Amino acid sequence: MNPLFSRKIQTCVCVLLLVIMPITAQEAHFTQSMKQAYDKYFMIGVAVNQRNISQPEQIALLCKEFNSITAENDMKPGPTHPTEEQYRWERADAIANFCRENGIKLRGHCLMWHNQTCQWMYEDQPSKELLLARMREHIHTVVSRYKDVVYAWDVVNEAITDDEKASDPYRQSEFYKIAGEDFIFKAFEYAREADPDALLFYNDYNECNPVKCQRIVDMVKRMKKAGVPIDGIGMQGHYNIYGPSEESLEQAIKAYRKVVKHIHVTELDIRVTNEMGGALRFKREGMQISDSTEQFLADQYARVFRVLRKYHKNIDCVTFWNLSDNDSWLGVRNYATPFDADYQPKRAYEYIVEKKAPLWPQPERPMK
Ligand code: GLA
Repeated sequence: MNPLFSRKIQTCVCVLLLVIMPITAQEAHFTQSMKQAYDKYFMIGVAVNQRNISQPEQIALLCKEFNSITAENDMKPGPTHPTEEQYRWERADAIANFCRENGIKLRGHCLMWHNQTCQWMYEDQPSKELLLARMREHIHTVVSRYKDVVYAWDVVNEAITDDEKASDPYRQSEFYKIAGEDFIFKAFEYAREADPDALLFYNDYNECNPVKCQRIVDMVKRMKKAGVPIDGIGMQGHYNIYGPSEESLEQAIKAYRKVVKHIHVTELDIRVTNEMGGALRFKREGMQISDSTEQFLADQYARVFRVLRKYHKNIDCVTFWNLSDNDSWLGVRNYATPFDADYQPKRAYEYIVEKKAPLWPQPERPMK
């Protein structure tokens, strides 16, 4: 090719790239924070660890962007109540005090779960009555302690199975094996006794999967019929750039809003790999993020928020699972949050806060 002609082409490509390349989010000037931008829609929350509430820059970011906080790990049953005789309050108290001092609302997470749990409750093969009595004591103690600051509790986490073919809709946890679905129903009753004002949620992942969604809906209907006090469903929201589609997210919200008044998105993050859900079955190491992957991520956040805005009357709070990629349970290489490893806003942040439409169609799920 004539070298002059080829240089012309190169120049054209460069000019074109400059025009179409979005300016990086770091350079952009945002007039509003996320909580301000979503003021009329729902609260914007974040899951925190102890570092997030002790380092000045991270505290500043928390207070600027979020108006609801969830303890990532520190209020779970195992960490707060490791043995029958012993409660450990230090870390949970630090988060509760941070919320009290800064006037930020606290979502309680969580009272009953099969992971990070009080194994001592079931290890000596107790009767159903004894197990329920232990659960009641735990739930009453924790809920009462944070009654002044917690506005909503994830009462039961992840009790539905992922096995679509299973005849029993429930996860075969030790709690379930001993007490059946009463372990779920009773947990809600105990939480309501301890704090009549807190909103009580059932929380789960893969919640847009139609089979799991139907099972959650059926369970909530049975709870309501039995007079069990459930107020809301927590859609964990561990998504990826391939899914869910806007349609399946909408279907799930429409199904849940028929059975509860309150929907919270409780653990939102978006992976750049083809993995979903809350179970610890992911690759920690993804690839270095390319410009196009960054765009896929921003686009999927844009899609999710477009749907959430549409259903804002049913959704009270949307919580990100972790403050930045540096804190993410998925590791820094999943690029799952709107803030990079240096706590700087990413392109995803720009698409959320400016309520942008996605630039590209949703990518096809890669072949296995
Ligand atoms: C689940 C739980 C959360 C958290 C995540 C991973 O979704 O509900 O508490 O453990 O897994 O961080």
